[in-house]
Amino acid sequence: MLVLGIETSCDETAAAVVRDGREILSNVIYSQVKTHTAYGGVVPELASREHLLKIGPIVDQALNDAGVNLDGIDGIAATSGPGLIGSLLVGLTYAKALCFSRHKPLAAVNHIEGHIYSVSFEHPQAEFPALALVVSGGHTNLFWVESQSGDFRDLTYKLVGKTRDDAAGEAYDKVAKLLGLSYPGGPVIDRLAKAGNREAFRFANVKISDRSLDFSFSGIKTAVLRMVKENEGLKQEPLRSDLCASFQEAVVNALWSTTLKAAQQLQPKSIMLSGGVAANSRLREAFAQRTAEAGLKFYFPKLILTTDNAAMIAAAGTSKLMRGEFAGIDTNADPNMRLAISDRVPASKRWKV
Ligand code: KG4
Ligand code: ZN
Repeated sequence: MLVLGIETSCDETAAAVVRDGREILSNVIYSQVKTHTAYGGVVPELASREHLLKIGPIVDQALNDAGVNLDGIDGIAATSGPGLIGSLLVGLTYAKALCFSRHKPLAAVNHIEGHIYSVSFEHPQAEFPALALVVSGGHTNLFWVESQSGDFRDLTYKLVGKTRDDAAGEAYDKVAKLLGLSYPGGPVIDRLAKAGNREAFRFANVKISDRSLDFSFSGIKTAVLRMVKENEGLKQEPLRSDLCASFQEAVVNALWSTTLKAAQQLQPKSIMLSGGVAANSRLREAFAQRTAEAGLKFYFPKLILTTDNAAMIAAAGTSKLMRGEFAGIDTNADPNMRLAISDRVPASKRWKV
């Protein structure tokens, strides 16, 4: 099955062609970062306008790179939420129009589910039930993921932990901004932290309650804000790199301690890490080391698949299309879409092609 994936939930216009949910034939990502850098964050109206300009050429390029045309595509998968409403509508409407005019089935994919599927390309044999930690600019969620078939064909999700305030990526972006660094802050802090001492500054451990599996990052962010207010010198090197390394370590420790607690309570067969922040070098390294020490299997995607892309949307969409879960032409974008306990479309709501 050849599936065209389309992703426009935030500030990347992306399209990809994936065979059988496994083999990436093309993966085109146009980042709008230059447009938004001047504003220190994504400007929703500018994002929608740029998606409109790019969506046609990016989809064409994905088809060209894969050496196929629309006739050879068996179905189209597009992100329908969560994300920025204007951005989502561009990709979803484009996909709906292609499906309607070419009589192709449509899969409406939850962006967070897409991130979980980013692990499936290199680790199709990953074991379930799994604990999936999705860390992005908008979300920090811990899911209990089950599979009846034992693989990625039919996953169901239960949210077991989430952030009570900022998402991890949001904390990176905000801390970068207050240190005068460019947007998005994650990659910049990651780079500076490599030269810094992660023990230079101490942050109090994030404590919510003993039983909760929730996260919180605003305390760490506020601590950085207070430190910088008291000492402007922290915005200069070499202290800035030390602060970046220490902040990063506090975020990694907060993510790890809750994930370990969840693993001890729920006894998953594997741990999966995904979402834009999963590109973080220290997070990948620390999780790899600590899961190994704890005797837990650990999977994460290669770098190009961690930040927003359409290959992961095509992979999640392929599973839906194979199950016959076609989205209707009346499918709407939902900026606040949740990944529910079961993300299945009931048979009564399926759309006949
Ligand atoms: O998944 P993603 O591309 O978009 C959303 O769905 O939000 O995640 C974007 C987030 C941004 O907050 C960005 O700063 C963060 O991922 N990020 C990183 C790194 N690369 C991207 N955070 C830490 N270290 C990185 N290397
Ligand atoms: Zn994302």
